[in-house]
Amino acid sequence: MTTRVLTGITTTGTPHLGNYAGAIRPSIQASRLPEVDAFYFMADYHALIKCEDPQRVARSRLEIAATWLAAGLDPERVTFYRQSDIPEIPELCWMLSCVTAKGLMNRAHAYKASVDQNTAKGVEPDDGITMGLFSYPVLMAADILMFNAHKVPVGRDQIQHLEMARDIAQRFNHLYGRGEAFFVLPEVQIDDEVATLPGLDGRKMSKSYDNTIPLFEGGAKATRAAVMRIITDSRQPGEPKDAEASHLYTLYRAFATPEQSSSFRNDLEQGLSWGDAKDQLFNLIETEVGPMRAQYEALMANPERIEEILQAGAIKARKLALPLMERLREAVGLRSPSVATRAAEPIKAGGKKARFISFRDDDGSFRFRLQAAGGVQLLLSEPFDNPRSAGQMIKRLQDGLPESALQRQDGMVSVKFDDVLVCRVAEHELAAVREALAEL
Ligand code: TRP
Repeated sequence: MTTRVLTGITTTGTPHLGNYAGAIRPSIQASRLPEVDAFYFMADYHALIKCEDPQRVARSRLEIAATWLAAGLDPERVTFYRQSDIPEIPELCWMLSCVTAKGLMNRAHAYKASVDQNTAKGVEPDDGITMGLFSYPVLMAADILMFNAHKVPVGRDQIQHLEMARDIAQRFNHLYGRGEAFFVLPEVQIDDEVATLPGLDGRKMSKSYDNTIPLFEGGAKATRAAVMRIITDSRQPGEPKDAEASHLYTLYRAFATPEQSSSFRNDLEQGLSWGDAKDQLFNLIETEVGPMRAQYEALMANPERIEEILQAGAIKARKLALPLMERLREAVGLRSPSVATRAAEPIKAGGKKARFISFRDDDGSFRFRLQAAGGVQLLLSEPFDNPRSAGQMIKRLQDGLPESALQRQDGMVSVKFDDVLVCRVAEHELAAVREALAEL
C-alpha cells in the first residue's frame, strides 16, 4: 500500500535556507521512499490572496519550481505541478464552497486574526478582508481532496485547515455519496524531527523578521555574506564558547553529520573563534548547496525547460482530476457528457493541434472538416467534385476568414470564396473556428 502525500507551496517569495532545511529537503527525501506517492504543487491561486503584484507571483512560481528541481526533486517520480494548471481545482472548490458552512470559515484562525486586528484598530471588522482570504481553507481543501491525499505535511499553523478539509470532505461524502465515499479524509503530518532553522538573530528564520540566509539567490557570495552576519556573543578568540546556547551551532547541525557536529562543538568549547566558526559553517552549507545552485542557475536560464516539466506534471495530475470531477458532477446533478469528454480530449490527444481532415463522403464527393485541438469538429465543408477544389478551399481558409467572405443569416454564417459556398457554421462558433485557424 502506498501513501499519497501531498503538499502545496504558496508562490509569493524566494526560498531561503530555512525553507530548504525545513520543507524542501525533507519533502524530497520523503518522496524517494518506496511507499510514498508524492504530490507537490505550487499554490499559485493561493498566492493571489496575499499578493497583488503580478511580477512577484510570476517570478516566485519560477523560482520555487527551479528550487525544488535543483534540490533533487524527480519529476518522473513525484507529481509536480502548478495549481493554476488544473482547472478542476477551482471547479471542485466551488462545489465544496456550496457545502461548507459559513460558520466554519468564521472560525478560521487567519480570518479571526484579521478581524481582531481590525477591531483593535477601531475599523469595521471585515475591513480589507477579501472573499479569497475568507474562503482560503476551502481552496486548500479542494487541493487536497482532488487527489485523495492521505497525509499532508504542513507547518503547525495549518493544522486547523486540515481539520476543516476533513469536515468539508465528510459533509460532501454524506450529502452526495449515497454510501460511497468520494473523498479520503486527509491527515495532517507534523514532523517534529525536522529542523526549524534559526535566522541571523536566533529567532525562527523568516522573511517577516528579515533574518534569512539566502539559498540560491545572489550566489555563494550572498549566502556567505549572510553567514558572516549571524549574531554571536562577544567572546573573543581562544575563549571557550557555549555551543548549545548559540544558534550558529543549531544551523551547523542542520547540515552536519553527528560526528561533524560533535567535533565542531568541541572546537567551540576549546575556543574556536566565531569568525572561523562562521567560515566552517559556510563551507559546510556550500558543500550541500553549491552543486544545487549550479543546477538552479541553469534552470532559471532556461524557463522553457521548467515549463515543459510542469506541463507534463499537469497532464499527470489531470489524469486523476478529470475522472473524479466527472463523478462529482454526476453526483451533484451537473452531468454533461459532452463537456466532460471535450475536457478530457486534450489530455488523450497529448496536446495535438487543430487540423484539417479531408475525406471522401459516402456519395463519392470530397469534403473536409476542421478539428479543434481537443478533437471536437468545428466545421464540415460542403461537398466538392474533386479533391483539388476541396484542397484549394482549405488553403483559402488557412489564410484566415476575411469579413468579405462571410454572409450572416439567422445565427448562421456562410463562408464563400469567389461565390463558392465552402461551409456554414453557427455564428457563435465563429470565434472558435478563427482561433483554430490561427493555430494551424
Ligand atoms: N496553505 C499552505 C501554506 O500556507 C499552502 C497550501 C495551499 C497547502 N494548498 C495546500 C498545503 C494544500 C498543503 C496542502 O503553507
